[in-house]
Order: sequence, then C-alpha cells, then structure tokens
Amino acid sequence: MFVLNSRLKTFFLGSVLKTPLLLPAGVMGISASSLLYAVRSGAGIVTTKSLTLQPRSGHNGPVISAFEGGFINAMGLCNPGIEAGLKEISKFKKDSSVPVIASVFAINSEEFVKLTKFVNSSKADFIELNLSCPNVSDEYGVPLSSSPVIVEEVVRAVSEISRIPVIAKLSPNVPNIKSLALAAEKGGASALCMINTLGPGMEIDINLARPVLKNVFGGMSGPCVKPVAIKLVFEASGVVKIPIIGLGGIMTGADAVEMRMAGASIIGIGTGVYYRGMDVYRKVSNEINEYLIEKDFKNINDIKRIRIDD
Ligand SMILES: Cc1cc2nc3c(=O)[nH]c(=O)nc-3n(C[C@H](O)[C@H](O)[C@H](O)COP(=O)(O)O)c2cc1C
Repeated sequence: MFVLNSRLKTFFLGSVLKTPLLLPAGVMGISASSLLYAVRSGAGIVTTKSLTLQPRSGHNGPVISAFEGGFINAMGLCNPGIEAGLKEISKFKKDSSVPVIASVFAINSEEFVKLTKFVNSSKADFIELNLSCPNVSDEYGVPLSSSPVIVEEVVRAVSEISRIPVIAKLSPNVPNIKSLALAAEKGGASALCMINTLGPGMEIDINLARPVLKNVFGGMSGPCVKPVAIKLVFEASGVVKIPIIGLGGIMTGADAVEMRMAGASIIGIGTGVYYRGMDVYRKVSNEINEYLIEKDFKNINDIKRIRIDD
C-alpha cells in the first residue's frame, strides 16, 4: 500500500511533488501511457525519452543486456522526433497534472536552440538538456559533456530563449565534475540531473566469442554505478547552489536516503524499474517514509547533505 503523506512532499523549481522520486529519461520511452503508468505507480515527476529534431531508429539489437552489476545499453537514442514526442506530452497532460520534463538531445547549441523553440510551444514543465551522450560534436570536435566551455555555451544559448526552467543532464565520464556543474550553473541552468550512464563498457559472450551488444560498447546503469553517482552528486552539490536530481543505481529507500545525503534534492529511479517493477516508486516512497518515522524526522527536508569536517 502507498502511504501518501505530507512527509514526502517536495518542492522542486516552483512545483510541488507528492514524492521526491522521478522517472528519468529513456527508461520508459516516450508514450503518454507509459509516463502515466509511472505516475500511477507513484512517481512524483516524469521525464520523456531524449528527443531529437528528426526521428531516430536507434542501434540494431541487441541494444540492452543485464549483467551481475546492472544493465549495459546502447539504445542509440531511438525516438520519434521532437514534434511527435511533444504530442505525447499533450496527451499526458490531459490526464495528469504531474510535472513532466522534456528531455532533448543535440550535438551543438544551434540544434539545442531549435529543439527549445519546439518545447516552448508545448505543455512541458521543464526542459532537460542531455549533454551526456558520447557523440562528438561536428563543430567542436569534442563531446559536449566533457568541456565546461561548451556546456556553459549550450546551456546559456538555451536558457536565453527557454520559457521554462532548464535542467542540464551531466555525464559521469569526466575527470572534473565540479567544473562542469559550475559551467552549467553559470550558463543559467535551474537544476542539474546526474548521472547519465557510466562508461562505456563492454561484455563478451564467451560461447559465441562475440560482443553481447550489436553496438559493441554501451553505457552502464543500475547498482554498479551507485557509488560513482553518490560521489559525483556529493562533489557537485558542494559547489553549486542550484538543486540536483540525483540518480544512478537507486533501488531502495535506503539508496534514496543516501542520495539525499550526497546532496540531491530529488531522486531518479531508472534501472530500478526493471529490478523491482514499476511499483518501485511506491515501494521506495514507503521505505523512505519508514526511515523518516524511525529517525523521528518531520519530513524529507530533515535528510540533509552530509558534511565532512576532517
Ligand atoms: C534503457 C535506457 C535508456 C536510456 N535513455 C536515456 C535517454 O534517452 N536520455 C538520457 O538522458 N538518459 C537515458 N538513460 C539514462 C538514465 O536516464 C539514467 O541517467 C541512468 O540509467 C542512471 O540511472 P539508473 O541507474 O537509475 O538507471 C537511459 C538508461 C537506460 C537504462
């Protein structure tokens, strides 16, 4: 049973969420019905699949595989394109007032600006820039996510024209997360979302003597990435003032509490849907609630970022 109570009510960029748990980009695709399913299963805020200007069919299969530490995937950003994707948000909004984040992906600021113009005329509450895919920008010749200069430039270009708050989704695959978090904040981001998938990594099928994924390499998610996510959220939250959506390997209420203690304001659960079912949002909400009761905490805000004194 889902115990809806005011302890879990969370404020995020002007919206009131019934729980601090978020469906992250890509995990349930783009259809209005799958976003609604997540809401009915207890998610307090939902994100679309990353949308590109043109539809993309993605990589050939196998695109995803489970291993002992979590999942490895190379979906190839399959999506129906920005116009079709935004229609799903309109459909979703007919049935739900839960905030929805439109995730967009591009390889340079001009394309991100074009996507933002589409999102401006939609019913999305927030726009999330997927800056984390390992694709290489034609113009700049380096991945967007690894350059503070490019991250700041892209976020600024979008923030100047966006009518809704801008969230920058950062990659874990960088040497200095603090400089990227600061660059996104300086560019005008209202929040950060981190982490995207870790890696890339590779699996080999020893019977076939072939890579498991058709794309050979893929990004990792699930339990194996949690310590990396906790560390990076902790580092970023130590230098920025904007809120952070923390995710990466969150499966249980204890994981969610840990992510709050790392400095996240709200918490995403992606791969956890595969481990614990769509009901994971309800289960984790109940588990956080039990922790609050056990600790005699008034509400979620009593779970604060830890301090390291020495
Ligand atoms: C199948 C799959 C598809 C994903 N698609 C996207 C996507 O389109 N855009 C994006 O920003 N992140 C995407 N992600 C990354 C997730 O949103 C999330 O950042 C990552 O999986 C870590 O969280 P988790 O361990 O809770 O899954 C995808 C992840 C998976 C497993």
